[in-house]
Amino acid sequence: MAKNLVRRKVHFSPDNVDIVVEAGTNLLEAAIDAGVHINASCGGAGVCGTCKVLIEKGEVESTRTEKLSEEEYKQGLRQACQSRVVTDLTVYVPAESRLEKAVVSREGKKVSEVLATGWRFKPPLNKLFVELPPPTLEDNISDLSRLFKGIKQRYNLSNLWMDFGVVKNLAKVLRKGDWKITVTTLVTAAKPRTKEWRRPRVINIEPGDTREKHYSLAFDIGTTTVCGQLLDLNRGKIIAESIDYNGQISYGADVITRIAYCQKPGGLKKLQQAVVATINGVIEELLVQSQVDAKYIGHIMLAGNTTMTQILLGLDPKYIRLAPYTPVANFFPPVRANSLGIKVRKQVYLFTFPAVASYVGGDIVSGIVGAGVHQRKDLTFFMDIGTNGEIVVGNSDWLATASCSAGPAFEGGGIKHGMVATNGAIENFDINPSNLEPEIGTIGGAKPKGICGSGLINIVAGLLEAGVIGQNGKFNPDLPSKRIRRGSDGCEYVLCWAPETQIGKDIVITEVDIDNLLRAKGAMYAGCQTLTRGVGMSCCADFERVIIAGAFGSHIDIERAITIGLLPDLPVDRFVFIGNGSLLGARLTSFSRDLLDDARRVANMMTNFELSENVDFMNNYVAALFLPHTNADEFPSVKKKLDRLSKGKLKRRITA
Ligand code: FES
Repeated sequence: MAKNLVRRKVHFSPDNVDIVVEAGTNLLEAAIDAGVHINASCGGAGVCGTCKVLIEKGEVESTRTEKLSEEEYKQGLRQACQSRVVTDLTVYVPAESRLEKAVVSREGKKVSEVLATGWRFKPPLNKLFVELPPPTLEDNISDLSRLFKGIKQRYNLSNLWMDFGVVKNLAKVLRKGDWKITVTTLVTAAKPRTKEWRRPRVINIEPGDTREKHYSLAFDIGTTTVCGQLLDLNRGKIIAESIDYNGQISYGADVITRIAYCQKPGGLKKLQQAVVATINGVIEELLVQSQVDAKYIGHIMLAGNTTMTQILLGLDPKYIRLAPYTPVANFFPPVRANSLGIKVRKQVYLFTFPAVASYVGGDIVSGIVGAGVHQRKDLTFFMDIGTNGEIVVGNSDWLATASCSAGPAFEGGGIKHGMVATNGAIENFDINPSNLEPEIGTIGGAKPKGICGSGLINIVAGLLEAGVIGQNGKFNPDLPSKRIRRGSDGCEYVLCWAPETQIGKDIVITEVDIDNLLRAKGAMYAGCQTLTRGVGMSCCADFERVIIAGAFGSHIDIERAITIGLLPDLPVDRFVFIGNGSLLGARLTSFSRDLLDDARRVANMMTNFELSENVDFMNNYVAALFLPHTNADEFPSVKKKLDRLSKGKLKRRITA
């Protein structure tokens, strides 16, 4: 007998979305199904406290964890992931629990033109136009032989592979086009250790001459965002660009939480579908922007970290997370994009960038290829700073890489008032040394709502320079300012008073937040030290250039990042931003087979240093848990600056 299910209606505001679910449904799951985004950094484990919602009407069954204060509980706030629907509900998602899409593609620092050089503009995807003589009784060879003969005569090309789907349509298309057709070919790899390409594969035939309409897509699949570009392969140009949050974000903020989610029944499928839905949304937006017909897209080049790539391909990432940390594979053959659910024609192949290891993925290989690190004789240091920090050092002869888990602080995670870098996030910070009053700038100029990762760096550097915190990251409670006070997480500094904010609460930075930043920057810097010493160099002096990749990187204030000990103490002009290196590489390889070949070569060339159980890394990490570092000689310019500032403060106090 069918079970009598009790249905409940849940209304989410301010999105104004309704969904009908079974009684007992988890409220976070209900929001995901309704398409309402609620921040859920820990993926529903109940430990991050980012998913708080206000139950305005109705009843939920909820467990209160330490992430919800008694006062919040009394006000009607609940952790969505810890709540089950009991009655019909009206749920308000407060500003701090929402993801705002408006400024996700904000401008970063001026991105440099450091690009790969010396490559020929010769896309792996090619369109050939052939005009064939119609068959006669005297010349009645097969349609396929006629096509091959025509291509050989006009382009001197032989030895083509033919997809069976093409052969199936061949007779019809030849006649529809009155024996004039356009043939699309794709090369995917050169033979190992040669520059000779494998046989091109004919992936599509179209009636008439469609050479003018020749497009491909480049994608960067990040843990947080998905960025796509529509490329004109005749002119080597970007004709549309779009970005959105990765739909998987509702299931957890970082790769570890996502891998854990994949272990739940149906979890992998849900995450795979979530990212595919985001990719489809981005493609739709690109087509609207460019007015290009989807049928002219011939190819997708995609770069992502190892976990994102595996989930997209529907491969369980379980062993990425477990020692000895093995990915399923580093090199994947091209796959039909529509077999993954991507809404393009079935002829379209998707190429994923090769990875090096579980935590050094195709996005880094793509960045190295795009920036041309593998082409230069001089030494380059490449950093991608984020929840997972990846570092590469080397030149055209050798490349070494390592990755370290920095935690979510750079993306605002684990910070009391942390948030992603969207409207209202405090990004700029200065402090008046005489009265310790802050000067604050937010993204989009909106009322402050929280602190983003780059803001956190600026705030901690500013507090250190003003002497509000010491080099151990602890507050000086004796300073005469009402902004320095004791809060629920120990000492804190009030950045904005409640009436000035969007959230109606004081926005503070606490000692616990500073500790979290210390750990994040300590891991990053220790990774740099361990890798560079591992290859026999001193940490700083030998680098001709430091390339900073990634969306977060391009919003960092270099001087302040050096002040807190995140970046090595080098002259500022040696640092170069390349923005989204992963997307850059995906684009350039769409334009050039040479670079596509380089991607495979670079992935093979990179030696991975595993840091997770490396004793030097642990020692370096502990030494880096200080501002800027326990060894002042590592940061001579910061030492000088802090000495100068502290002399100035002393002088002011004596004069006062
Ligand atoms: S506490 Fe609910 S998602 Fe983390």
